[in-house]
Amino acid sequence: MGRPSLVRLVALLCPIFSGCRVLPVGRAAEAQGQSPLTGTWQNDLGSVMVLDPPDSAGAFNGTYLTRVAAAHQRPRESPLYGALHLAGPSEQPTFGFTVRWTFSDSTTVFVGQRLVDAAGEERLDTAWLLRERADSPDDAWKATRVGGNTFTRLK
Ligand SMILES: *[C@@H]1O[C@H](CO)[C@@H](O)[C@H](O)[C@H]1NC(C)=O
Repeated sequence: MGRPSLVRLVALLCPIFSGCRVLPVGRAAEAQGQSPLTGTWQNDLGSVMVLDPPDSAGAFNGTYLTRVAAAHQRPRESPLYGALHLAGPSEQPTFGFTVRWTFSDSTTVFVGQRLVDAAGEERLDTAWLLRERADSPDDAWKATRVGGNTFTRLK
């Protein structure tokens, strides 16, 4: 067995020191002082995205692995490009990003916010617009869909 993780160590020591608070595993990024979005997230449909650390202007890249592509297609990674309001690790910034799907001519834009509930659980609350390619101007009216997803940190 390996060394106990920091979280477990804190949990073990907590009863000894009063006022000590256990960090939920999901806030490991916070403990490391990372950007609140950085890491791996999964939505209710099983799609996974990895958000890379932002630069000093709040720009970030990442990859999106969708589980809801057409049945004959296996999941494939698509690049994403985003911007967030720079914020401390415990804050709740808004953000947006674009996914350029590698398996179709479609593009999705997401907007969202990182939220932390009273129990310390993080989630990304998002809404999206998906544009599919219309083959002619007459088809454009039906080419955009709207939806939403909630992501939780993959532990
Ligand atoms: C994101 O990717 C683009 C293109 O690959 C690159 O030019 C840019 O520096 C990257 N940004 C960050 C914040 O990593």
